Amino acid sequence: MFHHVLVRRPCPAVCEGITSAPELGRPDYEKALRQHDAYIEALRRCGVEVTVLDALPEFPDSCFVEDTAVLTPNCAIISNPGAPSRQKESAYIVDAVKRFYPDSRIEYITAPGTMEGGDVMMVGNHFYIGLSARTNEEGCRQFLAALEKHGHTGSVVPLEKVLHLKTGLAYLEDNNLLVAGEFCDKEEFARFNKIEISPGESYSANCIWVNGTVLVPAGYPAAKAAIEKAGYPVIEVDTSEFRKIDGGLSCLSLRF
Ligand code: GLY
Repeated sequence: MFHHVLVRRPCPAVCEGITSAPELGRPDYEKALRQHDAYIEALRRCGVEVTVLDALPEFPDSCFVEDTAVLTPNCAIISNPGAPSRQKESAYIVDAVKRFYPDSRIEYITAPGTMEGGDVMMVGNHFYIGLSARTNEEGCRQFLAALEKHGHTGSVVPLEKVLHLKTGLAYLEDNNLLVAGEFCDKEEFARFNKIEISPGESYSANCIWVNGTVLVPAGYPAAKAAIEKAGYPVIEVDTSEFRKIDGGLSCLSLRF
């Protein structure tokens, strides 16, 4: 069960967020705010208390608050983002994290280690971490040591194409794993019941499970049907403006 969620309001500079898909156009700021409101409302419907953090005008990607920390049942690990324009974002999550975790349970990834929370997927007591363009080997090493110190386990998954681990994966609890692209055949995930997302809907692999309900990006009917067929109630949330800057449902919150 998740009890709390942290989100951060998009700032006007969100229109300048990092993107690998400029062909999708620039985000519309007002629309992004409305979509963010709907996202918060969907989370509240799942029974969590949502803390809304102020926008950070200097950081275009700062609404993707998931990348700044990993919040586990036993500890909080503050990240050191690998994207140079995002590196200072992590300092701004610390005060919020301290409302929920004592100092003795807060760890920090430090240079030369880099790590972004989008590269981390929690499966019970175990955490998969993607070795990616944003999360380096030293970041993985520090992350695994922090997990072990606080009674969790972890393992590294080298990524091939995607930005973050959870760009192509979502754990839906009960051993059910949503998979797309390079994750469909990875040995590391062979033990799961896989729900495969077709290449045409790969963006929708970035769903989030929140207390039994799955939030799914709007506009991906085959993914929605497959998740419903697996027995989950679904809430669709439009993330079109965040998709334009490589963002999705998981990046927009920290759930714990
Ligand atoms: N625009 C999201 C990211 O690149 O971190």
